[in-house]
Amino acid sequence: MKYSSIAGTGGYLPERVMTNAELEALVDTTDQWIRERTGIRKRHLVAPGQTCSDLAEIAARRALKAAQMEPAEIDLIVVATTTPDQIFPSLACLLQQQLDIHGCAAFDVQAVCTGFVYALSVADQFVRTGNASRVLVVGAETMSRIIDWRDRNTCVLFGDGAGAVVLKASDEPGVLSTHIHADGAYKDLLQVRGGLVQGFDNAFMEMRGNEVFKMAVTTLGSIVDETLAANGMDQSDVDWLVPHQANIRIIKATARKLKLPMDRVVVTVAEHGNTSSASIPLAFDEAVRDGRIRRGETVLMEGFGGGFTWGSVLLRY
Ligand code: COA
Repeated sequence: MKYSSIAGTGGYLPERVMTNAELEALVDTTDQWIRERTGIRKRHLVAPGQTCSDLAEIAARRALKAAQMEPAEIDLIVVATTTPDQIFPSLACLLQQQLDIHGCAAFDVQAVCTGFVYALSVADQFVRTGNASRVLVVGAETMSRIIDWRDRNTCVLFGDGAGAVVLKASDEPGVLSTHIHADGAYKDLLQVRGGLVQGFDNAFMEMRGNEVFKMAVTTLGSIVDETLAANGMDQSDVDWLVPHQANIRIIKATARKLKLPMDRVVVTVAEHGNTSSASIPLAFDEAVRDGRIRRGETVLMEGFGGGFTWGSVLLRY
């Protein structure tokens, strides 16, 4: 039996930092409201001219370095993004070109904030079936480009960034199981209407925040149950929760469900807000690099996003 396992991780946040105080000057909000209702203190924004593929490239190179692998050794690239540079080629192909990799399959996965969980799930299937053995999996976003900076309901929540992992084939797990779901019936609660039909003027995010919040808490609770049941495990078998970083209150609700103390939950939302598909690999990379998550420990990643989409990955690091 072949498994995929994590060979290296990387992350990148653009240099420009926007504090809550700066947002007070843009919309009717306060630093206190943002911190109390979301846990966010600041977010990072791309510079004019800086692209999503630029962010993805830095995160990918860091993950490759950590995996002690050369770009040319990669045999599959899967990129999760909601904010690609162009309609096509895919962000994965642009990244492939920037990394000077040639010939291997490269494609994007679009599942908004669950994107990285989807991408890892897809990559894992390729490795398990023997169709790939060294996979670059990236979540990269420039959310600032689909934010209406006049809308206080959304502009305080999001930021830009990229995270990556390199997966390699292994005789030992690695990824224990992945679980992905979607229900398009909820499409109106969180969306960007803009596109080829509506045009790209005012292609901004719209969100019914309170309804999204409630669905996220319920759904993330049920995905935890599903994941543990599929592996014959209970809460005490999980060493680390690496959740999608959208809102500290959603994260705490999932931790309560798992009966995990907050010091076993990787929380980075204060530092970069919701970076959509980049948030889980950014948080994972931080906890691997600072030595919190150690080899052999069991990690549960879970995410929820527009669509709605939701999912989880259980892995042994
Ligand atoms: N500053 C100050 N007040 C704000 C505000 C802001 N940035 N944004 C909204 N408000 C106001 C609302 O207008 C509302 O005012 P009203 O009572 O006069 O109508 C009030 O705050 C409460 O709004 P509500 O939506 O009930 O607050 P909430 O407790 O649900 O918190 C969110 C709002 C957006 C933080 C919360 O709903 C949330 O996090 N939702 C999920 C968002 C998310 O994670 N989306 C991505 C999923 S991947």
